[in-house]
Amino acid sequence: MFEPPSWEERYSGDEKVWSGGPNPQLVAEVTGLTPGTALDVGCGEGGDVIWLARQGWRVTGADFSANGLARAARHAAEAGVADVTDWWQVDARTFTSDGRTYDLVTTHFLHPPDGAMVQVTRRLTDAVAPGGHLLVVGHAPSAVFTQLNATQRRAMFLAEDLLPGLPDRFQVLVADQRPRTMTRDGISHDVHDSTLLARRRT
Ligand SMILES: C[S@@+](CC[C@H](N)C(=O)[O-])C[C@H]1O[C@@H](n2cnc3c(N)ncnc32)[C@H](O)[C@@H]1O
Repeated sequence: MFEPPSWEERYSGDEKVWSGGPNPQLVAEVTGLTPGTALDVGCGEGGDVIWLARQGWRVTGADFSANGLARAARHAAEAGVADVTDWWQVDARTFTSDGRTYDLVTTHFLHPPDGAMVQVTRRLTDAVAPGGHLLVVGHAPSAVFTQLNATQRRAMFLAEDLLPGLPDRFQVLVADQRPRTMTRDGISHDVHDSTLLARRRT
């Protein structure tokens, strides 16, 4: 779950891994922002990238899985948004923006182990343009995830756990846990999405 080989394997077949639709907290927080440039880190099969592109954003999808990025690029082409999307193979744990900045930097359900999401959040802030937004969403710890091992459960976080990763130049707009119904293997579960939205001051 934490290293590229398991994700490469997961994305190697033909079967879709994710729904293809956008994540609800992305839709909730980004609807109403003025479209510009966006970076989605841990983009997987590209559902969020495609939704953003359809809202008028020019989007870079980033992931450490080459197979994931290839799938995402294929889905973007099928959705008719290839011309406003591009792809970047990066490991979020060592991410450096290399001087590139975006009006929106977003990441959903990345969950690196050992509390590393705080450092990932800090790294992603470097890629946010002045006046731009950072949206970080992940699973809040929950008894629902009993099938996961202890390391995986420790990789879940609350939005407020990430606040130490935000430099002073960021204003926190949202830091809470949002209820959501998740369906897995045909069974519905009540879970919470930890949601951090911050804006870089101009
Ligand atoms: C649970 S999936 C979520 C995919 C997508 N964001 C979504 O919500 O549908 C996590 C994704 O993050 C990627 N990933 C996990 N750890 C990563 C890391 N350290 N750097 C970059 N990508 C990573 C995986 O390859 C996978 O595509």
